[in-house]
Amino acid sequence: MSDLGFGDLTRSKSQRCGSNQPGFGTPYDCKLHRSIGVCFLRRNPVVKKPHWLSVIASRVCATSSGGTLRTVRMENQNETISEARLRAKYIDLMIKILVNSIYEDPGIPGSYNGHEAYDERRRAVGGDWPRTAHTMVGVARLNNLKDLVERTIREEVPGDYIETGVWRGGCCILMRAILSTYDDRQRKVYVADSFEGLPAPKPETYPADADDPPFLRHPALTVSEAQVRKNFTKYGLLDNQVVFIRGFFSDTLPELAAQTFALLRLDGDMYESTIVALESLYPKLSSGGYIIIDDYGAVEGCRKAVDDYRARHSIDAPLNVIDWGGVWWRKGHRERKTIDWPASIATHHLESHAQSSPRM
Ligand SMILES: C[S@@+](CC[C@H](N)C(=O)[O-])C[C@H]1O[C@@H](n2cnc3c(N)ncnc32)[C@H](O)[C@@H]1O
Repeated sequence: MSDLGFGDLTRSKSQRCGSNQPGFGTPYDCKLHRSIGVCFLRRNPVVKKPHWLSVIASRVCATSSGGTLRTVRMENQNETISEARLRAKYIDLMIKILVNSIYEDPGIPGSYNGHEAYDERRRAVGGDWPRTAHTMVGVARLNNLKDLVERTIREEVPGDYIETGVWRGGCCILMRAILSTYDDRQRKVYVADSFEGLPAPKPETYPADADDPPFLRHPALTVSEAQVRKNFTKYGLLDNQVVFIRGFFSDTLPELAAQTFALLRLDGDMYESTIVALESLYPKLSSGGYIIIDDYGAVEGCRKAVDDYRARHSIDAPLNVIDWGGVWWRKGHRERKTIDWPASIATHHLESHAQSSPRM
């Protein structure tokens, strides 16, 4: 069985299991590979969790070409497949696909920063708005999301996950993908957005939004719920653990039925969108849970909302910098000294990241 790829598994299934499933023998049929995974694992006691390889097989089928299928191999019959290694490869591939560093789509004309030509260094740090990729946050912030989601699982932090401001859904898709690799069938991923773009500023209530940057009104920020659902479906990840919360945050978040979160990811750009999310959701974040603010370095109104909320509630957990835009902290934990965030840091970080070699 050395050098066994999924194409080989197809053949071994026919010999050993005698399946007459329609489509059997077609190497890239997802349902087929899911069943192959189960079948294969039942016959290989070294692999402890049948569900896991079947998930890998179906996800790899859903997201990649036949060439990729053949790179997933058993090196030796007596060697245990490393679950962790397969998981890491799947998640890494998901990240590459979600930012579309694979097909290198250019930026949206006239959008943030005005960068149109694909630039790997910008995509690494969310420095452009991709034309077709399913997230604009870039590789560094997806890696951060992956790290923190995995921490909640390892540390058994109770609760669900939510992103407020999802655009095409990429961050939520990644969270759901990670849950599937741990066979977690309990936690939900809440997908909160107007699906109509950002609300009009209300300067009388939120003066910090009066001078919103013009890019926040770009029509490309409007993505329909149907489109986001379709994006989940493309990865085979739309199920009842994904909950859509449709509407402006001021209408939906204060009334949200969910009571406990392990991770909050706030990406609504504006003062209003950020403060409403903090007021509604932070009290529901478990002690030891994580909160990510996507736009702390990018939008002044967002930064002010975070600073105001933290000051008002005496939150002194240190802010950790992800890249020029994103920060995170852990509720109820002191780890490092809180950073200073000079007004010029956004530009400075983007330029310095653009010059260094990104981790892709
Ligand atoms: C910058 S995009 C989010 C990017 C996304 N997280 C990603 O992974 O690419 C901002 C999103 O927030 C939504 N949004 C901002 N403020 C909102 C509000 N107050 N209520 C509902 N949706 C809001 C917009 O509709 C838009 O989809």
